[in-house]
Formats: sequence, structure tokens, C-alpha cells
Amino acid sequence: MSEEAIVDLAALGPDFARDPHPTYADLRRRGPVHRVLLPEGFTAWLVVGYEEARASLSDPRLSNDWRNSPGAADTDDDPWSSPHMLISDPPRHTRLRKLVVKEFTPRRVQALGPRVQEVTNELIEAMLARPDGRADLVQDFAFPLPAAIICELLGVPFSDRDKFHRWTTQVTKQWNGAEAEAALAELDGYLTALLEDKRANPSDDLLSGLVRQREEDEDSLSDTEMVGLAVLLLVAGHETTTGLLSNGMLALLRHPDQLSALRADFSLLDGTVEEMLRHSGPTGTSLHRFTTEPVQIGGTTIPGGGELVLIGNTPANRDPSRFPDPDHFDIRRGAANHLAFGHGVHACFGAPLARLEARTAVRSLLERCPDLALDADPSSLTWYPSAMMRGLPHLPVRVRSADHTGS
Ligand code: HEM
Repeated sequence: MSEEAIVDLAALGPDFARDPHPTYADLRRRGPVHRVLLPEGFTAWLVVGYEEARASLSDPRLSNDWRNSPGAADTDDDPWSSPHMLISDPPRHTRLRKLVVKEFTPRRVQALGPRVQEVTNELIEAMLARPDGRADLVQDFAFPLPAAIICELLGVPFSDRDKFHRWTTQVTKQWNGAEAEAALAELDGYLTALLEDKRANPSDDLLSGLVRQREEDEDSLSDTEMVGLAVLLLVAGHETTTGLLSNGMLALLRHPDQLSALRADFSLLDGTVEEMLRHSGPTGTSLHRFTTEPVQIGGTTIPGGGELVLIGNTPANRDPSRFPDPDHFDIRRGAANHLAFGHGVHACFGAPLARLEARTAVRSLLERCPDLALDADPSSLTWYPSAMMRGLPHLPVRVRSADHTGS
């Protein structure tokens, strides 16, 4: 085992949350894996090199199952009371993922295209209608867009968004023990009641489809698995996309040359979204992995027996051995093999929906708001104090220039 001291990322405070890249660059220079204390308050092995991260994401000795965490004698130690695919290993993972992929078809995603455009337009018009021409790009746009779409996809009432947003924010970005576990329990209770309702009043949304599947196929999801899946989709389906839209637009607005190039040629749009994911993606690290046997990564042997390992999507995506001049935001670089959506059996299956939303949102914002600009000094922005999820609670922008204000 490496004798390296624990690197205290928590002690770096808001500076690390705002800009973790110099710290990660320093760690990467020293080696691809380190023991760190995270701002979230726990210690883990963090993989920071691209090749090592990619290999670790498909290493079966790194388990997603909480029952492989130290001292977990049974599933009661699992803070997620309802199992779901992201905290499962094959074969349970394979079975759970297959059942959902049956419902989450490319056709279902494609069919959401017009609705994504419609919600995008409504949100942009509402921002433009403000007399002072100012808006908060997170609260007024980057949160409500994916929230509305995931609600529509799953069949969750959009009117409940404030309630579930509070719970999902707590679970993903402010994990602090008891309060976050209570939030997760509330989310569980809310979705259990909603699924009951789907059983009685099915429609053509995804949760109704899963309820129907269950009635037709006895190998389909159990009650607790269905709740676990609904929680996962609701959390994974909007918090991440909110982060992509706001972090990505911040990067674009901070690079006027790239912004003008995109405005002049929208064939650069797909590449822009991939570069946003690579340069400023919302997933700082993977979810927890636990060693089931000793694993050698780079020159370091991580012991077996449930050592906690996190795989750093953010540091891997800035590894100069994979992405030359990695801190440079370059929409033409061809960043498609970034790790923002993970890799291996747990690779994000919501990626086509996230890309659809991001492409629609970015293009429409630039087309409808020719004067779109930041309305704050980037160094004054507050970031969530999390290494696992990178995101901003607020992003002040001007959607119209001062000249046009009030016109
Ligand atoms: C920009 C948006 C998104 C990003 C950056 C993102 C990122 C990720 C990453 C990195 C993972 C793997 C985590 C790990 O290996 O520990 C993942 C898994 C997952 N994502 Fe996403 N995601 C996004 C949007 C979505 C959306 C819109 C949905 C659903 C509609 C979704 C559903 C899922 C699910 C269900 C998994 C678990 C897959 C499995 O365990 O097999 N994600 N996502």
C-alpha cells in the first residue's frame, strides 16, 4: 500500500469548489491515484489519471454494491433503502438495467424533442420579458428545463418540483448524514405514493410503462426496485443536466472567441456540448466503488475488503496525456471520448436525452439572446461544496444588453 499522506481537499474550502483544477493537476503530476479527504467529509482513494480512470470504471473488482462496504453485514447498512442499478453489480445490475432500457427507448427520447424545444422557448421568453433584462440562468432556466422534461418522461407532477428539487439537491450535493438520509426517505415515500397512483391511473409515461411491465412479466421490477429506479431517474435525470447547462454556459460565456465561432456556425454545436461536458461537466467523480480484492492502479495497491474508491471524471477529463492543453476550452477539439457520462456497465444511459436538451438549450439561448452575457465576476460565484457533483446554485446573466433594457 502507498504510504502517501491523506490529501485534505476539504481544507481548501470554497477555493477548491470554485476551481479544483490546479489541485487536480498537481495530484496528477504526482501519480494517478491518491488518498483524499473530500469536502463531503469522508476519506477515499481518488483516481485522477484518464487511462486509469477509464480502466477503473470497468474493473469488476471495484464494486458499486454497498453490501461490499466495510462492516456492511446486510442491506440495512445501505443508505439507499431501495436498491437500484447504480448501486448494484452484475448480475443484479444487468437485470435492472435491461428492464428499464426496454422503456427508455431512443424513440421515447426522440419524441421528447418538440417538448424540449417548447419548454426552452417558454423559459427564454419569460427571461426576456423581465424589465431589467437580468436573469439567474440556473433558477430560471438550467433547473426548470430538465426538471420539466424528466417529470414529463417519468410522469411526475411538475408542480411538485420545488419539493423534489430540495430533496435531490440534498442527496447529490449536500450529503451530510442524517439530513440527507431524511431527504432520501422523503423522496422514497413521495415516489412510493406516486407509483401507487400510476397503478390505479396509468398513462403513457415511463413509470406507468414499468408498472404495466410488472403486471405482464413476473421477472420485472419488485416494488422496492421500482421505487429505487424512480428515485435514481429523478435524481440522475435532472441534477446532472442542470449542472451541464449552467457550468457549460459559464464556460462558453467566459470564452468570447468560442462563443462568436459558435454563433457564426451552428455545425459546431455538437462539439460545443461535448467540450462543455469535458471541460466543465457536472460529475466531479463517480459514485462510490468498494474494493472486493486488492487492486493495483498506477504504482499504488489499494487493499481489498471494501476500501472506498472514487473515480475522478473531472480530473480525468483534464488529463494532458489524453487532452492536450486541457484547461483550454476549445469547441473544435473533438472531445467525444471524455468520461463525463462514465464508462463501462454503468455508463449513463440518459446521455442521449442530456445531449438533446443541451443542444436545444444552447442553440436557442444564443439565437434568442444575441446580447447574452455574464452579470457577475466569475471569481465571485459560489459553487456547491462538493467534489462529487460540480454545480452552481446561481448564475446571474443579462439576457438583453442594458441598451435594450425596458424596450
Ligand atoms: C449532463 C447530464 C448527465 C451526466 C453528466 C450524467 C452522468 C452520469 C454518470 C457519470 C454516470 C455513471 C456514474 C458512475 O459510474 O458512478 C451516470 C449513470 C446514470 N445516469 Fe446519467 N448523467 C446525465 C444525465 C442523465 C439523464 C438525463 C438520465 C435519465 C433520464 C440519467 C440516468 C442515469 C442512470 C439511470 C445511470 C445509472 C446507469 C447504471 O448504473 O447502469 N443520466 N450518469
